[in-house]
Amino acid sequence: MAEDVVEQSEKAFDVQKIRSEFLILSLKVNGKPLVYFDNAATTQKPREVISAIKDFYESENGNIHRGVHYLSEKATELYENAREEIKNFINAKSSKEIIFTRGTTESINLAATALCRGGMLKADDEVIISNMEHHSNIVPWQIICNEKGVRLKVIPVTDEGDLDLEAFKNLFTEKTKLVSVVHVSNTLGTINPVEEIVRIAHERGVPVLLDGAQAAAHVQIDVRKIGCDYYVFSGHKMFGPTGIGVFYGKEELLEKLPPYQGGGDMIKNVTFEKTTYDDLPAKFEAGTPNISGGVGLGAAVRFLNSLDRTAVAKYEDELLRYATEKLKVIEGLRIIGESKNKSSVISFVVDGVHPYDIGTLLDAKGIAIRTGHHCTQPTMERFGVSSTARASFALYNTFEEVDYFVDSLRKILKMLR
Ligand code: ALA
Repeated sequence: MAEDVVEQSEKAFDVQKIRSEFLILSLKVNGKPLVYFDNAATTQKPREVISAIKDFYESENGNIHRGVHYLSEKATELYENAREEIKNFINAKSSKEIIFTRGTTESINLAATALCRGGMLKADDEVIISNMEHHSNIVPWQIICNEKGVRLKVIPVTDEGDLDLEAFKNLFTEKTKLVSVVHVSNTLGTINPVEEIVRIAHERGVPVLLDGAQAAAHVQIDVRKIGCDYYVFSGHKMFGPTGIGVFYGKEELLEKLPPYQGGGDMIKNVTFEKTTYDDLPAKFEAGTPNISGGVGLGAAVRFLNSLDRTAVAKYEDELLRYATEKLKVIEGLRIIGESKNKSSVISFVVDGVHPYDIGTLLDAKGIAIRTGHHCTQPTMERFGVSSTARASFALYNTFEEVDYFVDSLRKILKMLR
């Protein structure tokens, strides 16, 4: 164990104090203390988030934007305060730019549908994505491609797992109408140079959407500094609840976009002849939303804001480096995704061993990792594998857990090979 590394980073950052906020981390799984290394799939929730949701249903529940009674006003206030907190969290200009959705997937479907409906994407127009996208940033575009004749172009990925930015520049034509790429890859861990991507696209007059699902828990997001036009993320990957996420768009762009879904709460006036839509953000939030989810996400933002995010990022980076060094020396093990700029995700394959077997046998030791294609089949294909084992860390993981994981993996491989 690298004592100096542990001491140095745990000084700036009290991991045991953080862990005490996450009751689930004291769980025993298969008779062993839980080691939760599946944070890219979903993060665990701190007490603060769970209490916010519980308190909401116990003493604050009402429908929002509707009633004049106490509970309706209370719920509205909590929901709109959460929107404001999220606005500040990503440094948006206005809370009108924060649209609540079910998550990243719905946010991208919203973008694809509304851009088409609004005529911003038409037959023969092109959308640039990349070879490290999650299916949620591929399939929504393919659906509109099939419906409307829009075309997809794909930025290649280098052997290290970086976007090939020179190739990216060559993909633009006068038909390019949008670039939609991931901020942090869920499979490779690569943190993409989003400011540069936005600069390259904007120089060519093309707007950019960023999929921040894996970024929100690890990277401090500043949409104005990045300069992106749209930014989307999910609550559950940043210590918030499932079923809630965000679609951010620059106000002037959202004003021009038509609604995604129709229904209550998004209208000004309805007759059988014509409906006029409400102002932002209501125009994009049809129907009763996930109110408790919004409140829970607000609590997740407060939890993250209570931490020294720079110290968190440094700690996670040290965990990543420590685990990478220990895994790399295992015979026959190959890490998929070795960008110099990486978030705390390690995908790996081992010669002659199926990732599923690794995952199952690690589970028997209380260790949770993900195995499979991670909803990135084209990325798997790019690296010549059909699946990987993936360990993904969060701020509550420890160096001791990494030691236990690597020791367990070594034992398992001895058994399997
Ligand atoms: N997108 C999630 C993952 O990477 C589910 O595991």
